[in-house]
Amino acid sequence: MENLHPADRIIVALDGMVPEQALRFANQVEGLRWVKVGLELFVQAGPEVVGQLRAQGLRVFLDLKFHDIPATMAGACRRAAALGAELITVHACAGSEALKAAEAAAVDGAQRAGQPTPTLLAVTVLTSWEEQRLQRELAITQAIAERVPALAQLSATAGIGGCVCSPLEAAALRAQHPEPFALVTPGIRPTGAAVGDQARVMGPAEAIAAGASQLVIGRPITKAADPSAAFALCCKEL
Ligand code: C5P
Repeated sequence: MENLHPADRIIVALDGMVPEQALRFANQVEGLRWVKVGLELFVQAGPEVVGQLRAQGLRVFLDLKFHDIPATMAGACRRAAALGAELITVHACAGSEALKAAEAAAVDGAQRAGQPTPTLLAVTVLTSWEEQRLQRELAITQAIAERVPALAQLSATAGIGGCVCSPLEAAALRAQHPEPFALVTPGIRPTGAAVGDQARVMGPAEAIAAGASQLVIGRPITKAADPSAAFALCCKEL
């Protein structure tokens, strides 16, 4: 990962756009290599959007956060990999049996479809949770600072290739999981960008220095007056 081009480290989240807009946007940002398709775009555009983005020469992070029984997780990951998605999210809370089945099915699905081998990324604790609410609503008493590394370890042991994490968790997780374990971090704000609804943010270079392998950046690029310039600026900061 050391010698990656900065553009390989930045994944632009195509949130809040209708499908035609998302495809047009992805096509217009100069030098863009990776995009993230989330639930909203996927539900509206359907699975074809992955192939359409691939046809534009882009690599796709399919962020659907699968969480189900092992057979269903395996089936969903197999299909996602066969579409050509190269990063696919699953919930670590699905447990080791489901994670193992998902990983094996994704690798097999990609191979059979002649697509690149994907990396599955585990979501540990959604950053929208607070400790007190986890305890009150789900009877989870474990501190988030303990739960995140424990779920990352469960995922790694099950053969999952990486985690999605806050940039503030990256250093601790990187110490626990050396590369090539992927650490993909949202919550990135380049110099001068509005923080918006993100409470805990880091700059791009800071997050990479903390151990992130790739960064998810949405609005600082998608809402910029000149998205190509905003993307170039993020690359430059790396
Ligand atoms: O626009 P912004 O840069 O905040 O977008 C970040 C992307 O990462 C969005 O797609 C958001 O859903 C996702 N994300 C996040 N924080 C998390 C997990 C995912 O912002 N903790």
